Amino acid sequence: MGNRRIQFFDTTLRDGEQSPGICLGIEEKVEIGLSLARLKVDVIEAGFPAASPGDLAAVQAVAARVKGPAIAGLARANRKDIDLAWEGVRKAERPRIHTFIATSDIHLEYKLKMSRAEVLEAAVAAVRYARSLTPDVEFSAEDASRSDWAFLTEIFGAVIREGASVINVPDTVGYAMPDEFARLITHLRNNTPDIEKAIISVHCHDDLGMAAANSIAAVMAGAGQVECTINGIGERAGNAALEEIAMALATRREHFGVEIGLDTRQIYRASRLVQNLTGFNPPPNKAVIGDNAFAHESGIHQHGILNNSLTYEIMNPESVGVPRNSLVLGKHSGRHAFEDRLRALGHELPAAKVNELFAQFKELADKKKTVFDRDIEALVEQKPVAGPEHYQLIGHHVVSGTQGPAMASVRISSAGLKTPLSQAAVGDGPVDAIFNAIETAVGFSVTLKDYQLKAVTSGQDALGEATVWLERDKQIFIGRGLSTDVVEASARAFVNAVNKMTAVCGLPSENQVAGGI
Ligand code: KIV
Ligand code: ZN
Repeated sequence: MGNRRIQFFDTTLRDGEQSPGICLGIEEKVEIGLSLARLKVDVIEAGFPAASPGDLAAVQAVAARVKGPAIAGLARANRKDIDLAWEGVRKAERPRIHTFIATSDIHLEYKLKMSRAEVLEAAVAAVRYARSLTPDVEFSAEDASRSDWAFLTEIFGAVIREGASVINVPDTVGYAMPDEFARLITHLRNNTPDIEKAIISVHCHDDLGMAAANSIAAVMAGAGQVECTINGIGERAGNAALEEIAMALATRREHFGVEIGLDTRQIYRASRLVQNLTGFNPPPNKAVIGDNAFAHESGIHQHGILNNSLTYEIMNPESVGVPRNSLVLGKHSGRHAFEDRLRALGHELPAAKVNELFAQFKELADKKKTVFDRDIEALVEQKPVAGPEHYQLIGHHVVSGTQGPAMASVRISSAGLKTPLSQAAVGDGPVDAIFNAIETAVGFSVTLKDYQLKAVTSGQDALGEATVWLERDKQIFIGRGLSTDVVEASARAFVNAVNKMTAVCGLPSENQVAGGI
């Protein structure tokens, strides 16, 4: 008999998007969905359609455009939610309804104000109704790890009888420890009626840093599906990180004796995309996808790696799609060499996009002595807003120093205007000055919630990658900018965020316009 195959259920678009401060637009969700399909996850949980009309529309868009994985929509255990979840996923190749209700006494008493009998009845009715719409129904017992084990076997047995094909055991509050979580899974396998008719799934949160360990302990105890997110984003401390579970199971395949269907070489790309679109950057020492995950600093380690990479590398960077920090091209390289390099990095792009990137590469090669794979990745990852960009930075000038405030001027083109908008402003340092100048030029003020700047590679001439978080109407818009000039990178990030804002909210009304337009 072959090894057991573990299913990956990715909930980046649902539980991941519930992280405080993350707000993804529809096109961004589709883009992440496409990336998850390239990664070959088994199921994508695309959202919680009952949460808002925007969530429903996003689930519908993912269901219509992302092919390969099953697409799940989350629903509480009631008809209204289930109807909306079905409305969201029904056009998918393989739609799944995921319905849930809490089972722990603390949730029953203080949140649901329901008895166990009432919860059991609601779960059975929900699964029965969902099964009348689709054969693929998952049932979750929220807060399972703090629930009474006998009640869990009763409720899981009852929903399997109604046709649930997956029963999910969430460690909702990240409270479980690997040994006890494994014992719970074993108990469910041994005591739930008809358990062989369903897949046991686990869904672990990381409040005590145990999410990946708990998921893997559950797999060893017989779970067949793990729920996780890219980069481990999610409620509070986040969910189990897909890349950690996947690479543990792949790297220690012999130890676990299970198979996974993921194309792990797509992990880094998916991770970078989620970082770019959410603005959540993992720490450099984060397992598998952190900037330092494959960096060897000590001389002894470097020496060992040069002799044989197995001395200090348990997996090679290529197996997760991390580009080697190799020198690739210079300013004399031609378009063919550039296109070959893009392909080697996994980017098959239309000719027009390659031309655009090649022009940017040439500009970069002029400014920078050495162009690395990571620089090329950064160029590819630059995100224009979905749809046309309303504003574009044409030029800027900055004067700053220790004597007095910094001064910046900008020229910005605006869709529909023949003459560029030009404004100057002062500020507390060059970045503040240029942000003020952009605000004055576009003619409306925004709230800057956060700002970050980091170098893509090392060296004085490294590309700077700036991220800004702007807020309007309680929505956060994240912009990114790239340049060897960090003030220009910051300005580009600011304009990028303003463009996202105008794409979603439109231009501000007349009375908010301060001038310039
Ligand atoms: O953490 C949790 O319990 C959940 C459920 C809805 C599966 O996210
Ligand atoms: Zn969760």
